[in-house]
Amino acid sequence: MIYLPLEHLKPGMVVAKNIYMDFSFLPLITKGQVLNTFIIRQLKLKEISGLYVESDVGNDIVVKSIIDNDLKRSTISGVKEIFSSLEKNTQFTQDDFKSVSKMANDLVLNILSNDELLINMIELKSHSNYTYYHCLCVSIISVVIGIKHELEYADLVNLATCGLLHDIGKAMIPIEILDKPSYLTDEEFEIIKTHPGCAKLLLEANKNISYEMLNSIKGHHEKFDGSGYPDGLSGYDIPLFSRIIAIADVYDALTSQRAYRKAWFPSDAIEYMMGCAESHFDTDLLKTFLTTVAVYPEGTIVLLSNGEKAVVIKNYSENTLRPSVRTINEKGEHMEELNLMHDKKCMNIVITGMGYDKESGNFVTLQKKE
Ligand SMILES: [Fe+2]
Repeated sequence: MIYLPLEHLKPGMVVAKNIYMDFSFLPLITKGQVLNTFIIRQLKLKEISGLYVESDVGNDIVVKSIIDNDLKRSTISGVKEIFSSLEKNTQFTQDDFKSVSKMANDLVLNILSNDELLINMIELKSHSNYTYYHCLCVSIISVVIGIKHELEYADLVNLATCGLLHDIGKAMIPIEILDKPSYLTDEEFEIIKTHPGCAKLLLEANKNISYEMLNSIKGHHEKFDGSGYPDGLSGYDIPLFSRIIAIADVYDALTSQRAYRKAWFPSDAIEYMMGCAESHFDTDLLKTFLTTVAVYPEGTIVLLSNGEKAVVIKNYSENTLRPSVRTINEKGEHMEELNLMHDKKCMNIVITGMGYDKESGNFVTLQKKE
């Protein structure tokens, strides 16, 4: 399978991986389904940024999920229930705490069962719905950074809990501002900026949530140079979990499709974030993060410095910039496999960017009409 952004999808292409909507256990679009103009329009309306489709050049590529699909959907459903109950009675109840603790524990166990911890953000994005799915993605990315940072199991569960609850203060922000399909005005942004403080107010009545966890959630928009909010904390005065969640939060937001802008490719988001090292992020944690994410996820099309295009066939967590790739000619035919990580003859070849231009549809053999 290969990944194609929405604007490159054409009628006749065959879906290679399910896409889910919200917390429904039934996929919005199913593996094996043949695309038509109606389905492609629906995908655009649901803010799906792209799909894995069947392709001759990538028919042996395996794209793994970092957590089970059933756990993804049950967690999104659980997060939505907590948001809904807070919108109604503004109390984080004992049942809410039990539910979020179980979700956090299940997430950590599931993530730890992976042989290799490398996040394919394009695969993780095989879901529509921003608010609740964002909480799940932030929790997953934070836990993977936490594992590489050698946190203990109990800390990982607390970090997963903070990730799931980090934006819970948004339950107190007017929905018209949260769901505004365009950029926010300065006044609206000032209202949004109250959500970390609102989260602390909502959660602190529940004595099961520790002081450290409350401050970690409150601090997720602080920046390393002190220019963040709500308290303008800087450096190591910002709690460790807040510094981890800040990285996960920005990476997930940039790689998400929104009504007012396209999703960024992982490589673009990572390059942008590297530019914010020290000003926004804790540089040491950012370096750890860079070992947890695939810069060029499996199945994506990239451009090489020798002018060729290639599909990424395997990533290596030791160096996420140097995957194995398969070059493709202009007709979309498979040419040669290059292991950029280990082949000495490839040392002078670098990936210069994503390879999606108007011709990318050539990599897909369309199904013949019966
Ligand atoms: Fe936030």
